[in-house]
Amino acid sequence: MKKTAVYPGTFDPITNGHLDVIRRGAEIFDSLIVLVAIRKEKHTLFNLEERLELVKCATKDIPNVQVATLDKLLVEYLKENKIRFVLRGLRAVSDFDYEFQMALTNSTLYPEMETVFVMSSGKYIFLSSSLVREIASYKGDVSGFVPGCVIKKLKKKVIR
Ligand code: COA
Repeated sequence: MKKTAVYPGTFDPITNGHLDVIRRGAEIFDSLIVLVAIRKEKHTLFNLEERLELVKCATKDIPNVQVATLDKLLVEYLKENKIRFVLRGLRAVSDFDYEFQMALTNSTLYPEMETVFVMSSGKYIFLSSSLVREIASYKGDVSGFVPGCVIKKLKKKVIR
């Protein structure tokens, strides 16, 4: 049976760290859906359409990756689409508490689901979207941290 997983996140914007997790997930699973969350409670630099577009652009060369919107509880999305696997990346020990809480809460709501963690590659262990946004806001060089299509969009945003 084909195994499908989702990789949920805000992706504001997608970074090379996320892309590293996506590429490795795409090798583990037959099909991987990157879920871009609406996050009403979080002010984002890029709106939902922009975040979706950037994830699509960054993943266009990975054939078994699709991109979709997450506008509900993750477990509801999983149930509706009959998907059991959730992919998450672990960067440092500091991620562990939050990830543990989220994985346990989700599996209480939907016991059939399984969260699968991949370790972030060492060179991206410090990386986060807010770091990228901050560097860009001071017109710093983000080329080592984000895919090419994100660089252009970030420049446009901070110039405004
Ligand atoms: N490389 C680089 N950065 C990474 C990373 C990686 N491998 N993994 C995480 N990050 C960064 C993100 O860019 C983000 O950075 P920022 O806070 O500086 O902007 C930060 O780490 C947190 O990312 P993440 O853990 O993916 O959280 P998120 O806020 O992007 O996504 C959801 C959280 C969307 C998965 C979660 O809120 C969710 O499932 N929401 C749906 C509603 C729901 O079901 N809620 C109940 C959950 S129990």
